[in-house]
Amino acid sequence: MEKTFLMVKPDGVQRNLVGEIVKRFEAKGFKLVGAKLMVISNDLAANHYGEHKERPFFGELVNFITSGPVFAMVWEGENVILTARDMMGKTNPLEAASGTIRGDFGMTVGKNVIHGSDSPESAEREIGLFFDKSEVVTYSKQD
Ligand code: CMP
Repeated sequence: MEKTFLMVKPDGVQRNLVGEIVKRFEAKGFKLVGAKLMVISNDLAANHYGEHKERPFFGELVNFITSGPVFAMVWEGENVILTARDMMGKTNPLEAASGTIRGDFGMTVGKNVIHGSDSPESAEREIGLFFDKSEVVTYSKQD
């Protein structure tokens, strides 16, 4: 079954949005198979956001994502990667539709509440960066 990596960013944790965000993915019907509150190291942040390292905002991005705890998660379900991206909304919260997480809770492109993998390749890479194999569990759940 398809898995994706989702992360409530430091602004979302500070603003007590972890429960609201988990609730949306649970209500949709996806299965939570891994989760932890953690402070990301500079190395992990630079690795995770490696594709952006030439961008002018890279330093700001790494500073922000390491500035406080994040809530890292692995979710499982049919088409979860693309569906979660739809539920998150556009990267810039000012362009994100109402009803999406960023549309409802975000204001700036940097502090946009949540990150989610954008492809099967990045999901596999990001899950591997943030979670040990033993931290991703297998269990059955009724639909
Ligand atoms: P995310 O989905 O975590 O992936 C890369 C992040 O870069 C993105 O969300 C934004 O939060 C961030 N980002 C994109 N553009 C900018 C920008 N112009 N300034 C600061 N951060 C940005």
